[in-house]
Amino acid sequence: MKILQVKHYDEMSQKAAELLIDRIRRSPGINLGLATGGTPVGLYAQMVNDHQKNHTSYRDVTTFNLDEYMGLSGEDPNSYRLFMDKHLFNHIDIQKSNTHVPIGDTDNPNQQCSDYENLIERHGGIDLQVLGIGSNGHIGFNEPGTSFHSETHIVELTPSTREANARYFNSLNEVPSHAISMGIASIMRSREIVLLVSGDAKRDALEHLLQGDVNESFPASILKTHPAVTIIADEAAIGKTLAP
Ligand code: PGA
Repeated sequence: MKILQVKHYDEMSQKAAELLIDRIRRSPGINLGLATGGTPVGLYAQMVNDHQKNHTSYRDVTTFNLDEYMGLSGEDPNSYRLFMDKHLFNHIDIQKSNTHVPIGDTDNPNQQCSDYENLIERHGGIDLQVLGIGSNGHIGFNEPGTSFHSETHIVELTPSTREANARYFNSLNEVPSHAISMGIASIMRSREIVLLVSGDAKRDALEHLLQGDVNESFPASILKTHPAVTIIADEAAIGKTLAP
């Protein structure tokens, strides 16, 4: 894993945007894996800004999001589909039909899981996957204990994840109990991964990732076995872990 240490959130977002824009310019038909949450909001803002200023085109780009809440339609204000539209897709020249987010309000969740996995495969796999990390080490919604062999699946969210995400809902009760998420094996098939880590709330998770074993009890630890991971982490997240 390559680690890029930056000063703060804005610099993390800027560096991540530079990396993505470089890959998109080199491969205009790239397949991007995208993430939601507080961490990538600044990255998406930088991509929109660059699109407006420098006209980087997303006309031939295809995207696959990591996850979606079960039971929420794509129009629900808390759905990850709407999040992506609002923060990125509505502001760039991507074709909406090329943007894929798992469908949360499906009648047949298991079918939806295998359809999503097949869709990624039919498109030739993900070239570059953006990830955040949960304070419990989750990637996507793959909570501690998830098999490293998992493909897109239905997950039960842990209390800590539901509490962390309650800030977007009116109350904790409204946070869905389940989600559909790419599995760990799905994520690991990406050719390149960029992991964004910001803020002191992620400090323990980053330290665990860098210093701990590869173990299913800490899902992100599998990234140590991937050949092309770049971690972009700010000083608040790195703390003393890497300080000179
Ligand atoms: P966050 O979530 O970006 O909102 O901190 C990251 C995650 O839980 O994977």
